[in-house]
Amino acid sequence: MTQDELKKAAAIVALEYVPEGAVIGVGTGSTVNHFIDGLGTMRERIAGAVSSSEASSARLQALGIPLLDLNQITDLPVYVDGADEIDDSFAMIKGGGGALTREKIVAAVATRFICICDASKRVECLGVFPLPVEVLPMARAYVERELTRLGGRPVLREGFVTDNGNLILDVHGLRIADPRRLETDINQIVGVVANGLFAHRGADILLLATPGGVDRMV
Ligand code: 5RP
Repeated sequence: MTQDELKKAAAIVALEYVPEGAVIGVGTGSTVNHFIDGLGTMRERIAGAVSSSEASSARLQALGIPLLDLNQITDLPVYVDGADEIDDSFAMIKGGGGALTREKIVAAVATRFICICDASKRVECLGVFPLPVEVLPMARAYVERELTRLGGRPVLREGFVTDNGNLILDVHGLRIADPRRLETDINQIVGVVANGLFAHRGADILLLATPGGVDRMV
C-alpha cells in the first residue's frame, strides 16, 4: 500500500465515529482531505462542519457540506485531524500544513480528538519533524532568538503566509522529552500565536493505518 492509501484507510474508519446529526470539527491536510471526501458521501446525516483552514473550508463547500462559524456552536462532539508525529501519550506535532492555530482552537472546543495517520507518523520521541510555530511578522526575529535559546534551530517557512496573515518558523533539532513543558514554554514567548505541539490537548483516539489494517488505539 502507498502512504496515501494508508491515509485514506484511516480516514474511512474515522467516518464511523461521526455522530448522526452533529456538527463535525474538520482538520487540515492530505489525510483529512480523504475524510472530507468521505463526509461528502454522508452529508445528509450531519448538521455541518467547523473547519480549521481555508483549504478545508473550500473542499467542504465544494461537496455541499454546510460550514459553521465556531462562535455559533457550543457542542462539537468530534474533531478529526491528521498529525506530523504522534507519540505513545498521543501528544502530537502538527502544523506541517501551517494550519496549527485554527486546528488548536477547534480541537480545544471538541469533546473527542480523533487522530488519523499512517504508521510512519508514530514516533517514540517527538521532534524529528521540525516543530511549526506561528508568529506575528513584527516579532519574527525576536521569536527566532528565543527559540534558539530553547535549543532549537528556527527556519522561516519561505513564501508562506498563514490563513491568519502570520509567518511560520519551523524549529529543527529539538528532541522533545517533555512535550507539555515545551508547549508551555514556547507559548510564553511574546509574538508567538501558537505552536504545533498538541500535548496539553492531545488526541483521544488514534486510528493508525498499517498495511495489516487500521489499529484503533485509545
Ligand atoms: C496541517 C496539519 C496536518 O494534520 C499534518 O501536517 C499532517 O498532514 P498530512 O495529513 O498531509 O500528512 O497539522 O497543519
